[in-house]
Amino acid sequence: MPGTTDRRIDALLTLLAENTTIVISGAKIAKEIGVSRQQVFRWVEKLRTLGVRVKGHPRTGYHIERVPDILAPQLLSRRLSGTAFAKRIHHFFKEDSTNTIAMHLGEAGEPHGATVLAEDQTAGRGRAGRSWLTEKSAGISCSVLVRPPIPPAHAPLLTIVAGLAARDAAAEELTAIPDIRWPNDLLVRGRKFGGILTEMHAEPDRLHYAVIGIGINVNQSKMPAEIGDIATSLRIESGKTHSRLELLVRLLRNLDRYYNLYLTDGYAPILRRFAEVSSYFRGKRVRITTARETFTGTTAGLESSGVLRVTRDDGRGTEAVLSGDVAEAD
Ligand code: BTN
Repeated sequence: MPGTTDRRIDALLTLLAENTTIVISGAKIAKEIGVSRQQVFRWVEKLRTLGVRVKGHPRTGYHIERVPDILAPQLLSRRLSGTAFAKRIHHFFKEDSTNTIAMHLGEAGEPHGATVLAEDQTAGRGRAGRSWLTEKSAGISCSVLVRPPIPPAHAPLLTIVAGLAARDAAAEELTAIPDIRWPNDLLVRGRKFGGILTEMHAEPDRLHYAVIGIGINVNQSKMPAEIGDIATSLRIESGKTHSRLELLVRLLRNLDRYYNLYLTDGYAPILRRFAEVSSYFRGKRVRITTARETFTGTTAGLESSGVLRVTRDDGRGTEAVLSGDVAEAD
């Protein structure tokens, strides 16, 4: 596919990352990945511009000073073996949007589990036509293609499934307990550190494929001014840097587990888990903004499809909110 990271750069990254304590000669690298020493030199230069700290040169050998936290497919694939996401990992250094690519892959017949990753996105997309801002190699921009045997009306549950997977993965990195604001906002101490955008290709009664796009702010040391009040990163919260690779491995392993649980046992265990970890599940005072109106009310659980139920303050009963913005109300 045009733009994907050269498989041999991937091999070089893997080789360097797996030999962090030794000096490895340019000739050995060249032999192992099947390119010339000059080519190894050029790629090492490229990796340096990406922040990978490699000491040395072709004659003395290379020594990696800092393990590159690049989401290299080979490394990931090994760590994801046994999950649906191990086999087809498409990595890009820079692309417009991983969701857009994954939707094209779905159209082209790519199998269930295909995963698209970008170190940076130039046109990351958020919910409701908003944009999603990223910083090179600071966050996770990941989209997975799934082909679930469910009706399109149940697709909101895929967002819930992914939200749980990402929330649990991030919880291990934080001391504060992360929350999920229905449907897709990952929050810590009231600020958003991640979001999910699920898109699908479907007929009224048949879902052909869906793309679950997950964005996590990981190592940004500060957020862009325009979202500084409402957004945060794991690093801002914890005061330390986090391995994106480890986080992504955990996230995708969780996603595999929750997704399979949903397909085998249905929505009930998913909703039970959501009720455990989301303060928005029941009894939360909220202001809902839909395309039609804004109203306040109190959350009253989720429907089996993943849609939020809200009991309105204006006496018009309990309503199923299919999509819209949810904010905490006083
Ligand atoms: C939101 O909270 O509005 C959803 C944000 C989703 C962002 C992710 S980053 C990976 C994937 N590619 C995109 O263009 N968007 C999603």
